[in-house]
Amino acid sequence: MILENAYEAITDNVYLRLGDIIPESDVFLKLEGLNPGGSIKLKSAIGMVEDAERNGRLYSGASLIESSSGSLGVALALVAAGKGYSFTCVTDPNASTYSVSVMRALGADVVEVNGRDANGGFLGSRISYIHERIAADPGLVWLNQYANPANLRAHARLTATAILDEIASVDHLFVGVGTSGTLMGCLEHFRRHSPATRIIAVDSEGSVTFGFPPGPRLVPGLGTSRKPEICQVAAPDDIVIVSESDAIRACRSFARKGIFLGGSSGAVLAAVSRMSGQIPPGSRVVAISPDLGDRYADTVYSDDWVVRHFGAGVLETPELAHQTGG
Ligand SMILES: Cc1ncc(COP(=O)(O)O)c(C=O)c1O
Repeated sequence: MILENAYEAITDNVYLRLGDIIPESDVFLKLEGLNPGGSIKLKSAIGMVEDAERNGRLYSGASLIESSSGSLGVALALVAAGKGYSFTCVTDPNASTYSVSVMRALGADVVEVNGRDANGGFLGSRISYIHERIAADPGLVWLNQYANPANLRAHARLTATAILDEIASVDHLFVGVGTSGTLMGCLEHFRRHSPATRIIAVDSEGSVTFGFPPGPRLVPGLGTSRKPEICQVAAPDDIVIVSESDAIRACRSFARKGIFLGGSSGAVLAAVSRMSGQIPPGSRVVAISPDLGDRYADTVYSDDWVVRHFGAGVLETPELAHQTGG
């Protein structure tokens, strides 16, 4: 395959078989961290930028602004640099220093907003800041991943289609929820092409997306402090709420087996493990891993950070059933 642009190297066909996380079932972990920019957000970024180009909002020399706690920011920085747009990423103290450095290396301007919103998170504050910037410069293009249908359409067209192409018959699909672009895109595609698949949304304790009470969250990727506008295509079959402690335990436990995953992947795998008793033998299960562990070296994988925020008990990683197959 010969590509003209680095951001076109979408990697949608790599799965890791997890041998015994669910007895007598096949579990496939979809590794989105292999995309350029290191996450599933590459597809959201390309989908939203190319939609804005098609509908005339985005033109040569235009400037983009977006709110991101890290992974969409990196993906957009990559796409914007490749296409020649300037880009401002509005982020908050939970963004990893790694992501901020990568965005800056790709030429993005990164602004950190520190004030918490009424729900105790930063999303409302980041969005207020974007409104101020657009009021001052109406030429700025805000793609708004939380409200932009092109975000979920990218996942219907790419992520969901790729899963059915590779794994074919899927009984259960586990999807972590941030903006809900991945979840809504999968719901849209699977309800039409694989209606029997049970789709399980995985969210973080403290996220308000599914009507649970707000609370502090430290691991970026999963959860919101304000329900995303696009979260309305259809309801998932189940919602599993995972604490950040359990997500971190799962990450650290998988790392000891050589499987180095991001924080939300730990939450997704903790949810698979929790639901395993309800999944009949012989099932085919897909779990989406949005990114890899590298950018969490200073947080999820740092003993000091974990002890400081969650206590020493979280360092003791219980043996989850999760050997790789083969
Ligand atoms: C790092 C990361 N990126 C993306 C996602 C998916 O988010 P969205 O709901 O915005 O598609 C998640 C959620 O699990 C995540 O952790």
